[in-house]
Amino acid sequence: MKLNIIPVEWSDEGVRMLDQRLLPTEEKWLVLRTYNDVAAGIKDMVVRGAPAIGVSAAYGFALGAKQFVGTNIDDLADELEYISDVLAKTRPTAVNLFWAIDRMNRTFQKAKSEGKSVTEIQQILLEDAKAIHTEDIESQRLIAKFGGELLEDNSTVLTHCNAGALATGGVWGTALGVIRGAVDQGKHVSVIADETRPYLQGARLTAWELMQDDIPVTLITDNMSGHIMKKGGVHAVVVGSDRIAANGDVANKIGTYMVAVLAKRHGIPFYVAAPLSTVDLECPTGEEIPIEERDIREVTHMKDIQLAPDDAVVSNYAFDVTPNDLVTAIITEKGVARAPYTESLKKQFEE
Ligand code: MRU
Repeated sequence: MKLNIIPVEWSDEGVRMLDQRLLPTEEKWLVLRTYNDVAAGIKDMVVRGAPAIGVSAAYGFALGAKQFVGTNIDDLADELEYISDVLAKTRPTAVNLFWAIDRMNRTFQKAKSEGKSVTEIQQILLEDAKAIHTEDIESQRLIAKFGGELLEDNSTVLTHCNAGALATGGVWGTALGVIRGAVDQGKHVSVIADETRPYLQGARLTAWELMQDDIPVTLITDNMSGHIMKKGGVHAVVVGSDRIAANGDVANKIGTYMVAVLAKRHGIPFYVAAPLSTVDLECPTGEEIPIEERDIREVTHMKDIQLAPDDAVVSNYAFDVTPNDLVTAIITEKGVARAPYTESLKKQFEE
């Protein structure tokens, strides 16, 4: 395996992002030179996937702090509050965004209370953003190890959306990390990737990413998974998550719930792989998770080709919630959590 996909990076000119809107046909890097550019990059899905959004927001925060001109700490505090607000308004479901902004604000408050200067704080914030990135990659490595142990040799794993290196700080990924972990452990694993309408993260990103690593992948349309499961062609489902509630309800890309119901029907284990930065203990159940609704043009058009009648009434929910009773296990950097999740997830935070 090459294990070299890192979708977001810090550079002296700003935050570099691999433009995921252009994959798989074009590999182009953008340099986002202000925090507003970073916020736009998250909103427009230059970068996407919960952990990658968190890492990007941390870099955006650090970039905004670095560009602050002045020596007054209270003015910097006002500016950071404003920057936090701009970043927080980009996408509502992935809790990693809010987790990263909170952590950066706590780092600022600590440095302020220690009497650090503006210049020192700018450096401290950049170091913390880099630490968030490094820790994310390390979490994915551990998820890969723990999750890889759950997969059997010669198995076929179905995944939905892209929960790979592209969706995280890089290298392993969450759901694709589990698959990479199993391969790293010497197992033969092949993957079925749902195309994931309407944004096609499965077709455009998961297929591309696995092909980079020579992991066998078969792309299917979303409505084929039931047929293949019924024929015995899927041994496990592994997906990522945008937010996991305290009770283990899982928000993930629209269509995940359908896959989970099908997996239950066919007795196939349904695993969720995510770092603890995706677990929101303040959210008691999935009912409280905000679900993003996106531009209906994603449904009515394929690029510039119109697929639906003019003025058709359309819904475009970007995520759904899979109830915890359909989840076989949640794999985090701390290990494998099983039901009852209210206890097992809380315990992982205390370890
Ligand atoms: O809308 P997206 O592409 O940001 O949605 C991404 C997903 O739903 C992923 O499965 C999730 O963020 C987990 S990424 C490790």
